[in-house]
Amino acid sequence: MPLLDASKKHPMVMPDGTVIEQVVYLKNVIDHPRIAVGDHSYYHDFQLRDDYAATIAPYLFPLSPEKLVIGRFAQIAHGVRFITSSANHDMSGFSTYPFWNFMMTEETTAAAVKDLFATTANKGDTVIGNDVWIGMEAVVMPGVTIGDGAIVSARAVVVKDVAPYTIVGGNPARPVKKRFSDDVIEALLDVQWWTWPTAVIEKNLDVITGADIDALRSRAAALK
Ligand SMILES: CC(C)(COP(=O)(O)OP(=O)(O)OC[C@H]1O[C@@H](n2cnc3c(N)ncnc32)[C@H](O)[C@@H]1OP(=O)(O)O)[C@@H](O)C(=O)NCCC(=O)NCCS
Repeated sequence: MPLLDASKKHPMVMPDGTVIEQVVYLKNVIDHPRIAVGDHSYYHDFQLRDDYAATIAPYLFPLSPEKLVIGRFAQIAHGVRFITSSANHDMSGFSTYPFWNFMMTEETTAAAVKDLFATTANKGDTVIGNDVWIGMEAVVMPGVTIGDGAIVSARAVVVKDVAPYTIVGGNPARPVKKRFSDDVIEALLDVQWWTWPTAVIEKNLDVITGADIDALRSRAAALK
């Protein structure tokens, strides 16, 4: 039985049995029609939250057209926020005031509410890859895709897509450096260790957390 257990709500338990409740596997604490999270992706907040969907993606509503998709093994630090397309006001006219939001009645249908969101939510889905580390209080803006293995530095404001295994920082976030050579990145994207069964991942942590691409590749080949 692997020690890593994607079905847990709180994956971090100290040797004395103390459960670190501030760390949550997002998949097991979020039930939202527009959010999909892969196994083992966690969020750490200094405070306990009643609603993790509203915490990390405060403008993503059940009737929003866009989605927030997070891969496996993402590491999301305190205060990270995904500002999704529904956060935007309609900017095509003279006033950006959201009049219609405040004029709903019992007769307003779900379809009409969806139409309201559709006028503004034009940037598409937010997609976070696998094994992405997002530093404290970073903000990811609407429609951004962050590639596998990327790192978002603390307090970055990510406005553009981030290539796999690239570190970005600042506001607006710019590439700081690539984590590995192009050849190694290509091999990592080919191996995709995060798709392996949990027990296999656990047995191969030496090569997954090491930096010897030949060793990782040969372990991957042995699994085929
Ligand atoms: C992104 C990060 C991992 C980079 O670490 P590193 O590789 O050791 O980076 P360095 O300190 O050598 O800095 C590399 C460059 O990135 C820049 N940089 C680092 N952190 C930055 C930040 N938060 N915002 C903007 N630029 C940043 C540095 O100024 C430096 O720029 P230069 O090359 O022009 O001099 C680290 O700075 C970071 O933000 N970690 C997140 C920590 C965190 O939030 N943890 C929460 C708990 S998980």
